[in-house]
Amino acid sequence: MSDEDAEAYAAGTGDALVRRFAHLPLEKYSPQIVRELIHSVIGAGLRDGTLAVLTIADSSSDSFLGSLVFFDINQDDAEIGYWVAPEHRGRKVSGRALALALQISRILGLKRLRARTVQDNPASERVLLNAGFKQEGEARPEIVPSGKTEMSVSYLIEV
Ligand SMILES: CC(C)(COP(=O)(O)OP(=O)(O)OC[C@H]1O[C@@H](n2cnc3c(N)ncnc32)[C@H](O)[C@@H]1OP(=O)(O)O)[C@@H](O)C(=O)NCCC(=O)NCCS
Repeated sequence: MSDEDAEAYAAGTGDALVRRFAHLPLEKYSPQIVRELIHSVIGAGLRDGTLAVLTIADSSSDSFLGSLVFFDINQDDAEIGYWVAPEHRGRKVSGRALALALQISRILGLKRLRARTVQDNPASERVLLNAGFKQEGEARPEIVPSGKTEMSVSYLIEV
């Protein structure tokens, strides 16, 4: 992410589906808050390898389309989360971002990627299955990254 993404990122986080399903740690994001995060926790996470909050960008204009996050990163695996800004949905942006996430994972030497969706998130379920993720077990209550407990379905892919 860079400072140029801050306005679009903050706007996207106000979308009802992002608020419902993306489990972002903060309730509200302003462009200023996003810039502060880029220069603190996001930058630090990239430097020490514990967190990668990435922009999904349009390959021709470099404009912000959405967000892809690697978190809970271990030696062999990591969890990913993602969201696409509402005005850019319907073009399979997240599917292409997941394909790139798999490439990045291979380069990093990860063996598996994990993902979780809330039980009633059919769009995300479709995106994960299309990308080759397999469902692991049934929905169960889990603490999600925002700290709330949700009925979650887990997915896994060997990279
Ligand atoms: C999930 C999300 C990233 C998908 O956005 P996108 O990449 O634009 O996805 P698309 O709209 O192109 O749809 C991708 C697939 O899902 C399907 N889909 C989309 N909305 C759907 C819905 N409401 N019900 C069922 N399937 C749906 C599409 O038909 C398409 O399937 P196909 O490729 O087999 O034809 C987006 O909806 C989003 O940001 N949601 C809010 C945040 C979120 O849920 N993040 C994931 C948390 S794990």
